[in-house]
Amino acid sequence: MTPIENTEDRYGVVAIMLHWSMALLMIGLAALGLYMVTLPDAGFDTKKITLILYHKELGLLAFVLFALRLSWRVTQVIPKLADHLPEWQMIAARFVHLCFYGLMFALPMSGWLMSSAAGIPVSFLGLFTLPDLIHRNDHLFALFIDIHKWLGYALVPLLALHMGAALRHHIVYKDDTLRKMLP
Ligand code: HEM
Ligand code: HEM
Repeated sequence: MTPIENTEDRYGVVAIMLHWSMALLMIGLAALGLYMVTLPDAGFDTKKITLILYHKELGLLAFVLFALRLSWRVTQVIPKLADHLPEWQMIAARFVHLCFYGLMFALPMSGWLMSSAAGIPVSFLGLFTLPDLIHRNDHLFALFIDIHKWLGYALVPLLALHMGAALRHHIVYKDDTLRKMLP
């Protein structure tokens, strides 16, 4: 049985559930974000605005999961990386994980700031409305769109590296890297 908490050799159930639910959300949000901005703005077609609303709600859900994940992670041991790796690959792996934590915070935060600057409040799953972080400001709105966009773009190559490494470990090295993140 998979333990609840991490051990030196594997991730526990809580970390695994948080990892895969957030992986799905972050990949889905990036794909949805990239798609929705290609749709036309105006007219009777409300598809774009509807998708942006879903994107915002799900983006906030990712933010809440991130807060839970970080709180859990600081109480846990971090499983060892595969021990046959050269040192630079171990540093690269930990660096990518750190970048993901940065992005899981900065993407929703820049989205929330962008919405506040646009004067459009953000609702959390339709349950309640979040306070605006800053006053309406067109200049900051444009700035946060840019920041959010480039953070979104940065996620893509990091993800390719991360997924590529996980698959390489599983298929080429046949070690436990992927298995220790599975129940
Ligand atoms: C299908 C896509 C993905 C695969 C196959 C995958 C696979 C893995 C594996 C095997 C590990 C364990 C690495 C080790 O400790 O040796 C891991 C850890 C990690 N992954 Fe992923 N991952 C995916 C998507 C994502 C996404 C989208 C994110 C975040 C945006 C992410 C963030 C992390 C983080 C931060 C860790 C370090 C452990 C932790 O603190 O939770 N992963 N991943
Ligand atoms: C948490 C993960 C999130 C990811 C991975 C993500 C990713 C993206 C991406 C890739 C784009 C397309 C950027 C472009 O090409 O112009 C985008 C656009 C957008 N995102 Fe997010 N986002 C996230 C969270 C949020 C949140 C929490 C909000 C708001 C509360 C938000 C609001 C928006 C808006 C309004 C746009 C459209 C901007 C425009 O009109 O150009 N996002 N997002």
